[in-house]
Amino acid sequence: MGESLAFTVNADRRTIYNEILPQIDSLVAGERDLIANLANIVAVLKEAFGYLWVGFYLARDGQLVLGPFQGPIACTRIDLDQGVCGHAFTKGETVIVPNVDEFPGHIVCSSESRSEIVVPIRDRNGELIGVLDVDSRQLNDFDQIDAEGLARIANILERIA
Ligand code: SME
Repeated sequence: MGESLAFTVNADRRTIYNEILPQIDSLVAGERDLIANLANIVAVLKEAFGYLWVGFYLARDGQLVLGPFQGPIACTRIDLDQGVCGHAFTKGETVIVPNVDEFPGHIVCSSESRSEIVVPIRDRNGELIGVLDVDSRQLNDFDQIDAEGLARIANILERIA
């Protein structure tokens, strides 16, 4: 990949995922450091979609600990039985929350967040290593297109983590 991200501004989300996925693939291909790769991935998602908050929480000593992110400052530690992140990690499944006010136990990091999607991240052995969390200012902003697009990013990470 060159020095800048290329995507079609104002295209539909599926198109943008299709455009950025190969770029993420080549971006991480030449780098072995996981944190560096996670940092670039959140930068790509933030630039391409403009979400309020995009970041990783990584499993450390029985908690989820804040990793690379872009957006407002966020809570640093989440217990595995807490929040949307803990729920997605414990279930090992993607969770879409159309309205964060209606999710029992949702952790408010930014009062601007209205909806959220959390995708589990695994390493090459299939072990859960964390989650990718995306927050939006809009209610009901995430659907299966995001679940699939972000799962493809999780698949890329599964090959290199
Ligand atoms: N809302 C998340 C916490 C992380 S922030 O959104 C960045 C949750 O309920 O797990």
